[in-house]
Amino acid sequence: MTHMVQLAADFTARFGGASRTFWAPGRVNLIGDHVDYCGGVVLPMPIQFGTSVAVRLRSDGCIRAASGNDPATLERDARSNAALPAGHWGRFVSGAVAVLAEIGVDVGGADVLVCGDIPGSGLSSSASLAVGLVYALSECTGHPLAPLQLAVLAQRVEHRHIGVQCGLMDQAVIALAQSGCALWFDCTDHSHRAIALGADAPAILVINTERERKLVHSTYNERLAETQSAAQCLGVPHGELARMPIAAWRDRASRIDDAAVMRRARHVVTEGDRVARAAAAIADGDWPLVGVLFNASHASLRDDFDVSCSELDTLAALCAASQACHGARMSGAGFGGSVVALVERRFVAQVAEAVAHAYQGEFGVKPRWFVAQSLGAARRTDG
Ligand code: GLA
Repeated sequence: MTHMVQLAADFTARFGGASRTFWAPGRVNLIGDHVDYCGGVVLPMPIQFGTSVAVRLRSDGCIRAASGNDPATLERDARSNAALPAGHWGRFVSGAVAVLAEIGVDVGGADVLVCGDIPGSGLSSSASLAVGLVYALSECTGHPLAPLQLAVLAQRVEHRHIGVQCGLMDQAVIALAQSGCALWFDCTDHSHRAIALGADAPAILVINTERERKLVHSTYNERLAETQSAAQCLGVPHGELARMPIAAWRDRASRIDDAAVMRRARHVVTEGDRVARAAAAIADGDWPLVGVLFNASHASLRDDFDVSCSELDTLAALCAASQACHGARMSGAGFGGSVVALVERRFVAQVAEAVAHAYQGEFGVKPRWFVAQSLGAARRTDG
């Protein structure tokens, strides 16, 4: 977490005066990838890194926004509909203002400073930024949002202003998570419960590929479309694909002619089943079984959903080969990003360093790693 005193001081240096400060975490998904937009259940947890946001409202209709990761300051009219160029981070700011306007919350104007410290990709820096901004602006305007509404509005920022038709997993965990816990979240009816990760749980090791992610948005939207056509062939609503019982899937799989679409569906249906088994195994403290399900999830994302890459495969295989590791898988959308592994606590630094060293030997870059800790959901940080 960027130090809030530092953030407030940076805000004063940029804009003068005082601000209110907020923070939203990033996330790592334990299991259940590419099922959230097919009505599945997911098991993500927040991480200790995220996005800090300092805000002060203005009354002149002007939005000034700056990022600790970009020296330029963005200035625009709060009610402007003119879109910023694709890929510009300022779209998150104008998008947050716009989705709040749609529910009748007029931001007027604001000075905004954001600063992110999420190490590497695949850990939802975009959802962290979107939730952080919607949260900060809604609080400052005196319109606090319920956590689920916050998640849905932040998802709308991504859908309408960034161009990614993402599910609700990332925003939900960032808005709802409890300290020390992962989140069981049902993407159909939005029911959820905290899953405590106590002292008996293994360390949640996260290792980044350090690979630049390309074509994430377009390939993501393509996969979404493939699952839609799979659902149509199978005669189930798209929003129920991830809940299809394995037996029903076996009976109907031959209805899908296209081999790639068949594999996409197989991933979604089997991943839905793995999440249910993983949640039960976690409740039983059966971490070896959770590890087996992690490994199977990785293979399915690699072979059926086609969203892995050699860097992710190598990291996952290196981790899984360690005696102290129950299992490992790519986490999140894929195409680069991070691997999550369940490692016995006392060996985690040793395993991580050995994996990082071997990976560096193969890819020439030392991957960053950390042990994930849940500090809870998005929050105010100025008291
Ligand atoms: C991204 C999306 C999520 C989810 C994951 C894959 O993180 O934002 O909604 O679909 O990919 O599980």
